[in-house]
Amino acid sequence: MKFFVDTADIAEIRELQEAGIIDGVTTNPSLVLKANRPIKELLKEICEVTDGPVSGEVASIELDDMMREGKILADIAPNIVIKLPLTLNGLKACKRFTQEGLNTNVTLCFSANQALLAAKAGATYVSPFVGRLDDTNIDGMELIADIRQIYDNYGFDTQILAASIRTANHIREAALIGADVATVPAATLKAIVKHPLTDKGLDGFLADWKSTGQTIE
Ligand code: G3P
Repeated sequence: MKFFVDTADIAEIRELQEAGIIDGVTTNPSLVLKANRPIKELLKEICEVTDGPVSGEVASIELDDMMREGKILADIAPNIVIKLPLTLNGLKACKRFTQEGLNTNVTLCFSANQALLAAKAGATYVSPFVGRLDDTNIDGMELIADIRQIYDNYGFDTQILAASIRTANHIREAALIGADVATVPAATLKAIVKHPLTDKGLDGFLADWKSTGQTIE
């Protein structure tokens, strides 16, 4: 399973990139608001930090406006993925961008049927929102499993990008189900590095090493 980091914070992206644990980046309007920078400048800098796919989201709901914005975003760098909402116009834009050879991420997916439509429109990625479904007492991970089965039934090559990932268990379950990608906040990605037995073991090794009186030179 690939990891994308769900952030528009350059320092966070750089740190995870250095550790070799991310394959790309996803952004959305809320993350751009948090970064408080012009979107084109922000996405350009992110694309300089990583050559993996970087999702930048259109901000309109009318088809012509989506097409115009998507082209502006795609011109920023070759690794930009145009993120489109899962609406009828979003699907139309997805189909057109796909025909033009551009990569797309159809977002705000909350049902298996919506994911089926995104695949039929030729989406490169579909983003089902696990955490936001969990928030409504619906098991978000069941949606990932349903989409996996449907895509495998028909051989769709749209990649399942598990989004709105909030916990270590979300990551583990998405990987077990076979999601192609999980987009994860930087803090959650850093949290899964840690294990108490790793820390305990390291403390013991450091103490024993000190007792040897040696240095490695
Ligand atoms: O980028 C889409 C998604 O990952 C948002 O997550 O935590 O705002 O539901 P969240």
